[in-house]
Amino acid sequence: MSAVSPSDLVLRYGGNLPRYTSYPTAASFTDAVGPAQAEEWLRALPPDEAVSLYFHVPFCDELCRFCGCNTSVMRHEDGRIAYGDLLREELRRVVALVGPQRSVNHIQFGGGTPSTLPAASLRQVLRSVRQFFKVEPGVELAMELDPRHVPAGYPDLLGDLGFTRISLGVQDLEEKVQEACGRHQSFAQTEACINVVRAAGVTGVNVDLIYGLPYQTEESVAATARKIASLRPDRLAVFGYAHVPWKQKRQRLIPEDSLPQPAERLRQRTRMEDVLCAEGYLPIGLDHYALPGDPLARAAQNGTLRRNFQGYTTDSSAVLLGVGASAISMLPDGYTQNITTVASYVRALADQTGLPVARGVARTAEDKLRGRIIEDLMCTMQVDLQAAHGEGHNFLTEYAALRPFVQDGFVQLDGSCVRVTEAGRPVLRNVAAVFDTHRQSLSSAMPGAASQPRFATAL
Ligand SMILES: C[S@@+](CC[C@H](N)C(=O)[O-])C[C@H]1O[C@@H](n2cnc3c(N)ncnc32)[C@H](O)[C@@H]1O
Repeated sequence: MSAVSPSDLVLRYGGNLPRYTSYPTAASFTDAVGPAQAEEWLRALPPDEAVSLYFHVPFCDELCRFCGCNTSVMRHEDGRIAYGDLLREELRRVVALVGPQRSVNHIQFGGGTPSTLPAASLRQVLRSVRQFFKVEPGVELAMELDPRHVPAGYPDLLGDLGFTRISLGVQDLEEKVQEACGRHQSFAQTEACINVVRAAGVTGVNVDLIYGLPYQTEESVAATARKIASLRPDRLAVFGYAHVPWKQKRQRLIPEDSLPQPAERLRQRTRMEDVLCAEGYLPIGLDHYALPGDPLARAAQNGTLRRNFQGYTTDSSAVLLGVGASAISMLPDGYTQNITTVASYVRALADQTGLPVARGVARTAEDKLRGRIIEDLMCTMQVDLQAAHGEGHNFLTEYAALRPFVQDGFVQLDGSCVRVTEAGRPVLRNVAAVFDTHRQSLSSAMPGAASQPRFATAL
């Protein structure tokens, strides 16, 4: 625990910041990058470059009030089958550009709740993947599940298809919190989901928890963390609730006065971390915890941990091909994002022959350099600026901006090495932001930005 009190920490380091799952972040995406640019970048991929795949399925069985993700309800099975067909069509168009039989080591289905994809559609999507790509034997095949809505037979289907990991949303176990969030989920449901999936042969289990939700207290989040840890998931993600009602209208149903204040959020975060560490989990980067033998923990220890749009990952591929509405692709020369709404995504694939790309950003050499620095900091909590920097960089401005962090005991400077201390883990994003010149120019270009923030609070 830091010597700086939670309220001082908020005063000095509060504010809205990105989570740095990319650099430049999605706030820099514009429609200057569209389908033509995406096609050029995809065609230019070196022939032997391995790729990872991400499929976005935005549908959920019911919508949770707190959720900040791109989700919707699709009651009709025909609509979900049609969406599965479009995923395959988009994949076919991408493969026509990048060429067939590229090596794949990581495939993830995220959402939403991807198990809303009917079993036959999921089989077909994976059949296309295996037809178009060389899926490596040790592939990580992962899917997000909602423990309240696991379709009958789905766990066996996942086992049968070779899934290696599931990620479950839990968030909080307290009745009052669940009521305010519009998400009722008993501990028994979560436990049953983990048991049935493990019995089907899917061994990797991640659980998502959140602090900063309505009516949470230090005691309630500690109790949730303790109870979930008893199920021994090999990984946990502990997110700070991102309250972005200007972007996500459903969050307006959450009364502002039910939300813990920033200093309380910090205390909740610390309590959950204490509980999870006492239960044998290792803290990883900003918000993850893993059992010591888990590949994510090993990657954090041996310096191979990476961060991409899915968060912390062992995936070292430089290319992530995102398929589906709102999916983001990471390419060597830039990021692209698909059209967000399902209706427009469907129209784009039906009406045109190109890619359903809506926006993106090119990455300059400077962006790549700064992106590497930010990713190193977010993953390993340290970076050697000498080793990372290009010619002509002395980072004088950044060193000056790091001074308050050093004074507060959150950062140590050792020659050209910037090291974030254990006490500095909660302000990791703030340290990363020191190297983010896009954010600095976005805020100076839009002085009124504070009244309409682009990111959720950092603390
Ligand atoms: C896309 S959701 C999928 C969860 C899964 N469909 C379920 O219902 O269990 C992935 C995770 O994002 C996190 N999340 C969603 N909205 C959030 C918010 N506003 N603030 C922080 N985390 C959020 C939750 O922890 C959630 O489990």
